[in-house]
Amino acid sequence: MTMMKQVELPDGFLLRRIGMKDYEGAVQTLSGLTSVGNLTKEDYEEVLHHWSNTYLADKKTLMYNVFVIVDETAIGKVAAIGTIFLEKKLIHGGGLVGHIEDISVNPEYQGKKLGKLLIQTLTEYGLSKGCYKIILDCDVKNVGFYEKCGYSEAGIEMQIRAKM
Ligand code: ACO
Repeated sequence: MTMMKQVELPDGFLLRRIGMKDYEGAVQTLSGLTSVGNLTKEDYEEVLHHWSNTYLADKKTLMYNVFVIVDETAIGKVAAIGTIFLEKKLIHGGGLVGHIEDISVNPEYQGKKLGKLLIQTLTEYGLSKGCYKIILDCDVKNVGFYEKCGYSEAGIEMQIRAKM
């Protein structure tokens, strides 16, 4: 794995797990990535409840790990959000794969290295839990960003979508 300079969290920002109080901020920041749809506060709380109660077989490692970077100088505004999902496999000796998902930096905070810091944090988290690889899907326009975070192209994404 390529070693790269660790980005530091700027003054006034905090990196932590997502919480119930982040409803508006999380929805707003994720809207920069895709349609969040009609997600009520109750829906949000139900999802967070599911995330915080879903463990690997060891009953202590959470499968869903969603982190936010908040701007403490702006009443805890969510500046960035991202997930690493830990998947237990049969292959590779029952190994663990990390899936990086739903990365979004609020447009107001883009270009300040928060995205890179988030990816570095999620990657280190996955490796610390024993992932033998960490993967993600992204748009062609973001390939350069992920390369700057140490990732390299591997394979092609394919999909089938439910008819809406
Ligand atoms: N293409 C090439 N390089 C880029 C891009 C890009 N699209 N975006 C940033 N970079 C470079 C920066 O110039 C910087 O380079 P440097 O280290 O040499 O100075 C480096 O990557 C780190 O940039 P950051 O400032 O950390 O980037 P930012 O905080 O703006 O986050 C992100 C980048 C996440 C792509 C942000 O623009 C964003 O949220 N976009 C909208 C939502 C989105 O597309 N999310 C990714 C979806 S993929 C997924 O979820 C798995």
